Amino acid sequence: MKFKLIKKDTKTSARRGSLTTPHGTIETPIFMPVGTHAAMKAMTPSQVKETGAQIILSNTYHLHLRPGEDLIAKAGGLHRFMGWDGPILTDSGGFQVFSLPNKKITDEGVFFRHEVSGEEVFLDPARATAIQEALGADIIMAFDECIPYPCDKKYAAASTRKTIRWAEACKKAHTRKDQALFGIVQGSVFEDLRAQCARELVQLDFPGYAVGGVSVGEGLELLKKVVEYTAPFLPENKPRYLMGVGLPEDILESVERGMDMFDCVIPTRYARSATLFTNRGKIRLTHRNYRRDFYPVDPNCTCYTCRNFTRAYLHHLFNANEILSATLASIHNVHFYLNMMAEIRAAIEEERFAEYKRNFLESYLKGK
Ligand code: GUN
Ligand code: ZN
Repeated sequence: MKFKLIKKDTKTSARRGSLTTPHGTIETPIFMPVGTHAAMKAMTPSQVKETGAQIILSNTYHLHLRPGEDLIAKAGGLHRFMGWDGPILTDSGGFQVFSLPNKKITDEGVFFRHEVSGEEVFLDPARATAIQEALGADIIMAFDECIPYPCDKKYAAASTRKTIRWAEACKKAHTRKDQALFGIVQGSVFEDLRAQCARELVQLDFPGYAVGGVSVGEGLELLKKVVEYTAPFLPENKPRYLMGVGLPEDILESVERGMDMFDCVIPTRYARSATLFTNRGKIRLTHRNYRRDFYPVDPNCTCYTCRNFTRAYLHHLFNANEILSATLASIHNVHFYLNMMAEIRAAIEEERFAEYKRNFLESYLKGK
């Protein structure tokens, strides 16, 4: 994997880069749509590609439980199994496992119950790394503890030390030279813990760094602060991934503060519950106002859905519980996110990112 920093904004910390993986080059800043179970919900890989997606995310935890990494390896790896030939990133399970109700966390790893079979499962840095090697994604993540929010400093400090130790163990366990293993900075909302964690992970020399433990209920103001006091410790010539973020406004603020990669279930999850993103804010297509609205979802959008269907038609599909509603709404929302990322990249290249952000938010937050 190779990261090239193409341009740095002179007025903000925004960066324009490109990341080359065995399955293709990713232009950054980029958003990664989420396909948890080796599938984007309601979308075929060709529909995902048509939205402008360059890389997608899948999950170690879910695929380990079902169908198992051995089966996926036998199928020729995750790319072949799911019919996506572009870059893939797998998350380590460090987030999914810690959000389970009946887990047991030790210094070595995490015990939890299999959601389907009920048997006890154990995940630790070595296992999470071995599973991700079997799955075969282009980018894999260290096994970490995502600290809940709020959290007292004593717990946060001990947990962050453990995450650093686990990152080192993941690095030792990692053997596949064709995969890039990213370290994950934790530290909750504490400036000194974030700085310490970032410094120690940088010592371990990962090819990329993530900022985890955000979007856990801390709100946009604290998210901005966490990014502000973490990003300066990360090497300039390595990609920076902000995990689980977020809404368009969260992404814009974080690009401004130097982050390059993002993932979130929001565009696809909101799509399935009839919430669609437009340049003038979010709209709820089940509202009766859209019953006779023969405009596209977003008149400025060039996605397949907006080129071919009206709000009235989508309103009808949602009301009639037609599964096509999920597909058409997901196509639009994912396209909306990826189009915003393309506009962000162009704005950084042309030294007008701050202006782009201001104009976008002016229209998006004020609406109508
Ligand atoms: N996804 C969102 N946040 C996190 C995090 O802190 N750790 C991991 N592994 N995945 C995440
Ligand atoms: Zn559209």
